[in-house]
Amino acid sequence: MENFVFYNPTKVYFGREQLCHLGEEALKFGKKVLLVYGGGSIKKTGLYDRVIAELKKADLQIFELAGVEPNPRHTTVNKGAKICKENGIDVVLAVGGGSVIDSAKTIAITAKYDGDDCWDLISRKAVVDENLPIMSVLTLSATGSEMDVGAVISNTELNKKWTIFGPDLRCKVSFLDPTATYSVSAYQTACGAVDIMSHIFDNAYFSNKDEMDMLLRIQEEVLKTVVKFAPVALEKPDDYDARANLMWASSWALNGFLYDGLSQDAICHRFEHELSAFYDITHGHGLAIIIPRWLRYILNEQTAPRIKRFGVNVFGVDEKLSLIEGAEKALDCLEEFFFDTLGLKSKLSDLGIDESNLATMAKNACGRLGQINGFTVLSIEDTEKIYRMCL
Ligand code: NZQ
Ligand code: ZN
Repeated sequence: MENFVFYNPTKVYFGREQLCHLGEEALKFGKKVLLVYGGGSIKKTGLYDRVIAELKKADLQIFELAGVEPNPRHTTVNKGAKICKENGIDVVLAVGGGSVIDSAKTIAITAKYDGDDCWDLISRKAVVDENLPIMSVLTLSATGSEMDVGAVISNTELNKKWTIFGPDLRCKVSFLDPTATYSVSAYQTACGAVDIMSHIFDNAYFSNKDEMDMLLRIQEEVLKTVVKFAPVALEKPDDYDARANLMWASSWALNGFLYDGLSQDAICHRFEHELSAFYDITHGHGLAIIIPRWLRYILNEQTAPRIKRFGVNVFGVDEKLSLIEGAEKALDCLEEFFFDTLGLKSKLSDLGIDESNLATMAKNACGRLGQINGFTVLSIEDTEKIYRMCL
């Protein structure tokens, strides 16, 4: 385990009716707010009207960027940064899911960049060490962007989907009201549940190291929380406790507490970001298809103990089974959860993906090292084979 500094200064207002604090919090940063939102869900639910009313009550001047796409585009970010520069925006407020929050973060840093293309910063051609303050009102439990330091942006001209990390890209204030997620579709609820679980898998749970048992145990409790409450939210979308548990699990899966000091290899995310870069699919669905195939591909005497432990502690697999049998049973349970309980389609071909880009995606996923490290070492060839198992 490495030394670490745990520092997570995001102020969270959790629960119903907390938006009454929105204006006072935004005012701390200045008078001009850029409100960033997606394709219109917040207008249908009435959240847009509530946000505007709160901002007006505090006498804030409101500018808007609407239409952020799922798998948000760098061109949309550039539009937002332009609004910031032309109008001297003081704070960027995201109202939406991960795509909207990620766009707001990238707008906030591009607003401080002399150039006009955020891709320069995302591709590290240029560096900026400050950004405008960011606030969020979360509407979908999934990415953890409301409390983490990263943002993921797509460049559809280059088929790239890359992450930017900034010195101060954590939201200053996030509003987490579980009732704002009642309207999330069953499909997005399912994809969000997978994404939350994947952040735990990718941030040190699936590893051969046994660095801090306390964290492994808490990670398992967060996984169990998702396994328990995602089906409840699917059955009854306005179940407050289910939505609240998923929302807080989403934030804690990726806010640093569960993995600071541990090795973070982001294996599943390397696979998935290639899929959504090439095919614009929903992030959590790509993850659901990849994760069990990856784990089956690497299952051996070395990896079986952790995979079996996952099955025993999260799905109640019989501890008396042998290591390999227990691990196989764990993966059966995981597939059943993703594809039966959550109802996600199980193959890339179900999403219209064929083999044409698999070799390129495998090479990209392996990055500059030409391999993926972590639980096991995966070569470009291994990576392509795993993609093929998903077809
Ligand atoms: O655009 P609107 O109209 O708002 O509709 C969205 C969108 O169509 C809809 N939605 C959101 N909240 C809703 C709602 N519909 C009804 N009621 C609500 N309350 O859901 C759709 C998907 O929204 P999106 O924001 O794309 O989903 P999500 O939160 O899963 O974000 C996914 C993006 O985040 C990235 C993903 O790669 C993907 O680009 N990630 C960001 C991370 C981070 N910042 O740390 C980490 C993650 O691993 C992930 O990579
Ligand atoms: Zn994710």
